[in-house]
Amino acid sequence: MGSMAQGLSSGEDVKGERDRQGYLVVDHLTKLYGKNRAADDVTFTVGKGEMVTLLGPSGCGKSTTLRCVAGLETLDAGQITIGGDLVSSASSHISIPPERRDIGMVFQSYAVWPHMTVWGNVAYPLQVHKVAKDEVDVRVRQMLSLVGLSEMVDRNVTKLSGGQQQRVVLARAMVHNPRMLLFDEPLSNLDARLRVSMRFEIRQLQQRVGVSALYVTHDQTEAMVLSDRVIVMNQGRIEQVGPPLEIYQKPVNSFVASFFGEVNFIEGVIGAFEGTPVSVPVEVKCQGRMHRLFATPQPGMKAGEKVYVSVRPQDIELASESAATAETPALKGTVSRIVHMGSHLEYFVDAGAVQLTCHCVREVEAKVGTTVNALLKADRCICLSR
Ligand SMILES: Nc1ncnc2c1ncn2[C@@H]1O[C@H](COP(=O)(O)OP(=O)(O)OP(=O)(O)O)[C@@H](O)[C@H]1O
Ligand SMILES: [Mg+2]
Repeated sequence: MGSMAQGLSSGEDVKGERDRQGYLVVDHLTKLYGKNRAADDVTFTVGKGEMVTLLGPSGCGKSTTLRCVAGLETLDAGQITIGGDLVSSASSHISIPPERRDIGMVFQSYAVWPHMTVWGNVAYPLQVHKVAKDEVDVRVRQMLSLVGLSEMVDRNVTKLSGGQQQRVVLARAMVHNPRMLLFDEPLSNLDARLRVSMRFEIRQLQQRVGVSALYVTHDQTEAMVLSDRVIVMNQGRIEQVGPPLEIYQKPVNSFVASFFGEVNFIEGVIGAFEGTPVSVPVEVKCQGRMHRLFATPQPGMKAGEKVYVSVRPQDIELASESAATAETPALKGTVSRIVHMGSHLEYFVDAGAVQLTCHCVREVEAKVGTTVNALLKADRCICLSR
């Protein structure tokens, strides 16, 4: 600690370190609509140059949280700082208006201005900030080149495709080098194919410019592609924060596991174990018999605790009845349905009280109605409270 403090001797270094850790700091934010706690004690940070996604089902408080950061809502509790500046504080009754927060916004409803050209749309924020005419033109053209619209400078925006219009909105949000970018489901009006390419473009652009960004979506795949870190929200509260892959592989509860990708839950009880093993035994009742699976427990879980064993469909292998060994704990079941998905096959296995969905890359030697062993990869099984 001592050497670190010495390393941060100058003010610039201290500021740099603070910005890296938390350029945006949302601190115990609560926003009420009547009795509805739309955002309930929400705390998180976005580092300098980082892209963080708020992910969760409809009504969980994503937009409310983003709108508080934008300055479009006042807080009922908590505070928000951007780049070290206090922009919202419930206790001090501070609420800096949106136009003075120096942020760029790309919302679903923030469309292009139809009576203007592409140039006019992107130039507008600079003209409002009274930037010199020559400089406006230079910066607008730079920005349009960055989003790949150099050829369309003078075109009326209504004569652009949906994706091109969205690029104009993006250019307009970024042209005055804002301190932060805020996105609220910016791609939801685009068709599926365009959405896939645009989210990748947004990510590339954000990384190239190095701007900090907060992005709202209910689409798990979008969050996966776009984010350095994901914040999973549910009913106004944060359930989990982490890099997308970590959340996918190590969800902390059943809500996160089922919202972030497909998952199987198998009811069981943790069996006896000693020390702090990586995997603990879990007794599972399946087709009238007790089976023993192995799964990674959450910190502090004890023998006798009721849990779900959570396992992703692609982490189950199906094999003929004879293939199971002691090392690969298996559940026996009957194949009830097989669906070809193109990239893989989905097998539905009925094991009495346990219903499993399994994704297999190759066809398995099992037809509908036959018995199979479902082999669960122990290092991919985790225990979640139930
Ligand atoms: N202006 C408002 N007045 C009253 N209640 C509101 C208002 N805005 C949002 N709410 C309520 O607050 C809760 C959170 O809404 P919010 O818009 O933040 O959800 P969301 O996560 O963005 O959902 P979606 O994915 O549907 O956009 C919801 O219950 C919603 O009905
Ligand atoms: Mg919303």
